[in-house]
Amino acid sequence: MNKFIKTLAVALITVGAVGAAAAKEQANSSAAAAPAAKLMQVAEDAAPNPDDPNAPPPGSRKPDGDAVYPNPVSDLAKKDGIKFEDGRYRNKDGDPVPVVTKDYMVDWGTWNGFRRYHDACHVCHGPNALGSTFAPALADSLKTIDYNTFIATVSSGKRENRGGTDFVMPSFGEDKNIMCYIDDIYSYIKARSLGTLPPGRPNGREDISPDAKKAADDCTG
Ligand code: HEC
Repeated sequence: MNKFIKTLAVALITVGAVGAAAAKEQANSSAAAAPAAKLMQVAEDAAPNPDDPNAPPPGSRKPDGDAVYPNPVSDLAKKDGIKFEDGRYRNKDGDPVPVVTKDYMVDWGTWNGFRRYHDACHVCHGPNALGSTFAPALADSLKTIDYNTFIATVSSGKRENRGGTDFVMPSFGEDKNIMCYIDDIYSYIKARSLGTLPPGRPNGREDISPDAKKAADDCTG
């Protein structure tokens, strides 16, 4: 193993460790480390010549959106004809689309959305987007409300009085910690809504792409 491949492998083993933690958390599978091991294998096979000084950095994409290092997530997106544009997978209207493999590995956005949802939304909307006595199950909401309505609701908030009690959805429009990642949060809830992602932590993820990193840096900076 030369140095370049080793670095790549270490990075991917880190992903594997997250997958393994997830297995423990979900307490129903000891096989979750396997997909990450597979991802490592795939990435090693696909790595371009490491001695090439012009080799693109890991996680980067060709102009047609192809991942430079193919992996199960980008392979699936390609097979389903889902385009990668401006740092995430999108449908033909440009709305974010979650990509979830059968081993429950996800694109970066969906992964980040899982983390951020459980930071910012789950106190009211319940873990895994399943709802609470106070706020609706967003996994159900996204079956009927579209992307633009979702963004507008999170940005402006919502309030309803039912039986003398005010149910208030705060407005997050000024909160960069939410709005800079709202497409990621949407993507995660959409995956829960479509039923492609079960409750719990995804088993692994793609690396963040330079475009996604830049967009987040520009937004929060
Ligand atoms: C303080 C509690 C609270 C937090 C935190 C919160 N929400 Fe809400 N949210 C609500 C309540 C309550 C409603 C229902 C309001 C109503 O009935 O008008 C709601 C409604 C919504 C709706 C509309 C659902 C529908 O079916 O019409 C969306 C979308 C939504 N929230 C997204 C989010 C997201 C995304 C986050 C995290 C960034 C979040 N909310 C955080 C309380 C909260």
